[in-house]
Amino acid sequence: MKVLCIADQTGIKAEDFKNAARLYLGSAKVAIEINELTETDLHIIESDGPGGVPMPKGFFNDHEDAEVILGGILCPFSKEIMDMFPKLRVIATCRGGIENVDMEAAKKRGIMVVNGYGRNAEAVSDFTMALMLDELRNVARSHLRMKTRPDWDNTYINIAYMPHMCESTVGLFGLGYIGKLVAKKLTGFGCNIMVYDPFIPDEQIADMGYIAVDKDTLFREADILSVHARLVDATRGIIGKKEIDMMKPTAVFVNTARAGIVDYDALYEALKEKRIGGAGIDVWPEEPMAVDSPWRELDNVTMCSHMAGGVRAARPYAAKLVAQSVVNSMKETDAPQIITKELMYDPVFKAWAIEGLAKLGV
Ligand SMILES: NC(=O)c1ccc[n+]([C@@H]2O[C@H](COP(=O)([O-])OP(=O)(O)OC[C@H]3O[C@@H](n4cnc5c(N)ncnc54)[C@H](O)[C@@H]3O)[C@@H](O)[C@H]2O)c1
Repeated sequence: MKVLCIADQTGIKAEDFKNAARLYLGSAKVAIEINELTETDLHIIESDGPGGVPMPKGFFNDHEDAEVILGGILCPFSKEIMDMFPKLRVIATCRGGIENVDMEAAKKRGIMVVNGYGRNAEAVSDFTMALMLDELRNVARSHLRMKTRPDWDNTYINIAYMPHMCESTVGLFGLGYIGKLVAKKLTGFGCNIMVYDPFIPDEQIADMGYIAVDKDTLFREADILSVHARLVDATRGIIGKKEIDMMKPTAVFVNTARAGIVDYDALYEALKEKRIGGAGIDVWPEEPMAVDSPWRELDNVTMCSHMAGGVRAARPYAAKLVAQSVVNSMKETDAPQIITKELMYDPVFKAWAIEGLAKLGV
């Protein structure tokens, strides 16, 4: 079975696809082309859709027999492109969404679509743990002191109330892909985990071993409050002064999600007036942060420059995630990366998948 991989120059590289195919796609005949589109083209695709940027003439020559295409971050899947591949059955985009796929055209043709949803979730959840521990234990502050002062001073503002992780209650605001990974990692530290996520039934949260609570309880009882919801109209500014004022005077607020979810003025005031214990923040209303931002003066916040998800490891990981998801879709193994789930049960797709799996030997 022919699998065509459209690598990016700097995003998902040819090597990433080769390794992913070796791991998951058995004896597939793998062809790799390198896409010359740029970040500027990406912005056009994001605003105008996958047809916004045509691929260079002849780019797909010799690959019309491809049955599966794995596309990097910059690969658009327009109707015109799909039409070049009469045998095409699965499209896999390494992006977390489906902005670069003409979903209507894919659905009409019965082409399975999978994506790289969660590709940087491990990275963000690791980083969330780092921010929690860092803020709780003054790691960045001590580092700065060691670099800039000759003394050996271990007095910090939170010394009096700095808790053990295993005696802390962590409140997770949102239990999606990243929230679940954070919860799993926190379990290893022995934390008590509370969750507020209005879209997950309480029983399901309890089955995972966590305590489902309402929003107010989460803010009142958490020793560490970590935000993992998405920024949509309904969550814009959802964490405001009221919620922040409910927090314990010793509690630490962590945000690796999106700034727009939180009222940063209220958060700043609470930190400045020492009404909460501290904060670990990766995302900001203004990025990059102004040189004279008052946030830079606070002594109870660990600040990072929106870097939680930006690790190189997330790129080869995305290639592995989509290659695995292609096989999952063929095996009827549900996964959050499978977008057109209904196709898994379509007789035409099923027949192709059974034959395909036998050819791949996986
Ligand atoms: N800092 C970074 O570099 C970086 C990188 C990637 C993602 N992110 C951010 O991380 C966040 C989480 O991403 P994800 O992939 O886990 O998203 P996700 O869609 O998998 O999960 C979001 C969760 O929030 C829940 N939710 C929705 N409305 C809610 C509400 N009103 N209150 C509480 N929960 C609510 C949803 O039910 C869902 O479970 C997003 O904001 C994303 O933009 C940050």
